[in-house]
Amino acid sequence: MGIFLFAKESVLKPNSYGQHGLLIRGTSRFMYASLRSLLFQLPPEVAHRVSLLGLKAISSLPFQSHKIPSWAVQPTQVMGLTFPNAIGLAAGLDKNGDYVDAFGHLGFGFIEVGTVTPRAQPGNDKPRLFRLPKAQALINRMGFNNAGVDHLVAELKHRKYDGVLGINIGKNFDTPVDNAVQDYLIGLQKVYPVADYISINISSPNTPGLRDLQQVDRLESLVSRLKREQKKLADETARYVPLVVKVAPDLNDKEVRDMAEVFNSVNIDGLIATNTTSSRVDVEGLKHGQEKGGLSGKPVFSQSTKVLRKFRKALNSDIALIAAGGVFYRSDMRAKLDAGADLVQVYTGLIYQGPGMVKTLLKKE
Ligand code: FNR
Repeated sequence: MGIFLFAKESVLKPNSYGQHGLLIRGTSRFMYASLRSLLFQLPPEVAHRVSLLGLKAISSLPFQSHKIPSWAVQPTQVMGLTFPNAIGLAAGLDKNGDYVDAFGHLGFGFIEVGTVTPRAQPGNDKPRLFRLPKAQALINRMGFNNAGVDHLVAELKHRKYDGVLGINIGKNFDTPVDNAVQDYLIGLQKVYPVADYISINISSPNTPGLRDLQQVDRLESLVSRLKREQKKLADETARYVPLVVKVAPDLNDKEVRDMAEVFNSVNIDGLIATNTTSSRVDVEGLKHGQEKGGLSGKPVFSQSTKVLRKFRKALNSDIALIAAGGVFYRSDMRAKLDAGADLVQVYTGLIYQGPGMVKTLLKKE
């Protein structure tokens, strides 16, 4: 999936902090359209890697400032944290925390890395990522390919990014669902010292049994155990790291109500709505439309916004909501905020819109 091979302008000029630095600015829309057509000739995972390495190389040039660019500073307070702006990178693009500084240059107010599991695992067999350009969508069945939590924590210790860092934790594919809490506890304990917030992923469709953790009884026992551990860690470290749960868009009204009751009763700090969908309604008949996995991008926008709105109504008002699902344009972002989101994440939109997307979303009318 290729996003960026950028640098319309990498120019030496003073930045907002009065230092001189090589600033990466977004490609023009036209330029990105040309690059994208080249990148889209490559298999999605190859394009993805090329793009990330390109981004990293440019952002590691000497004299590069690691401050959030001045145009991106529109601070907002959520969960007791100051977010430089409300636009974040959703989980799954930087699974191992290798590209945080590089993504910071694109203006993100927060970056969520992971999903990371206790042990490294290869993920599913390739091909496992598919583009559906006609639907402005992707289908993935990556299966939490990642280098394990120890690698991620070591990488993040060197980060220079000064926005908010979320770390998304999951379970290994071969850990039985009944023992899942052990994996989440390992993740929580290991990432706690380096995270600004931690998200508990119980909604990816590509790890067998993971979504069963959304069933009320399992959910109750998982999140109450993790909240207890959070309290213990907060007491030990004198630092409170908020816990958020990431949910699926494929939930009916009753499921939303029942889950919200659990979240209210355990005082969860926030929710991310939503992950990818298992539905194929909007992509029937399209090339790759029937591939197994999670569908993201435009086709998930409406369902994930509905679920977001329902959670907003059912949740206590002090529980934060982070929207994800099909955000491409400023109007999409507005719709998520109107549905009750405090913050908005992007993934698939970035693949299609390119590295200038954050700036476009943040531009004041
Ligand atoms: C994802 N997403 C995801 N979510 C998560 O919690 N952990 C993960 O590891 C991944 N991995 C992942 C890989 C790929 C290739 C895609 C496209 C997506 C889901 C992602 O964070 C987001 O919730 C959904 O994609 C919906 O947002 P967009 O993509 O429509 O903006």
